[in-house]
Amino acid sequence: MRILFVCLGNICRSPAAEGVLRTLAPHCDTDSAGTGHWHVGEAPYPPMQAAAKARGHDISDLRARQFHSGDFDAFDLIIAMDAQNQRDIEVQRPKGSETPVRLLTDYAPDAGMDHIPDPYYTRDFDGALDLIERAAKGLCRTL
Ligand code: 4NP
Repeated sequence: MRILFVCLGNICRSPAAEGVLRTLAPHCDTDSAGTGHWHVGEAPYPPMQAAAKARGHDISDLRARQFHSGDFDAFDLIIAMDAQNQRDIEVQRPKGSETPVRLLTDYAPDAGMDHIPDPYYTRDFDGALDLIERAAKGLCRTL
């Protein structure tokens, strides 16, 4: 199963989700990308790296890249962190592609959230990780 996590910058939420899934489901082929280009080539945001590492997810090796239409073919499942990411992904869908694009929060329906709040702005890295871990466990139950 090839799973791609997508956020805006690819330095906070999606690399965290990739790191969590890599811990929970090492047999899955995971990657992450951003809809924006600003941080291409950068490692995850240091405060997110530290918060993830404290929970056992080392994401220091990840590097940001931009989402592109070829990702629809390269992955079986694309998971966005919020509805804007989902729209920015969908406009790039190639004709005939049926790759599902879901929200990560779809996998934690009891959490009552429709997006992963962006800790780059909220500064709540642990709150984001709580929700990401909860949803990633839900995702694993579907794999
Ligand atoms: P992310 O957070 O989408 O979770 O990686 C962001 C990081 C950087 C920016 C926006 C969102 N930025 O505009 O630089």
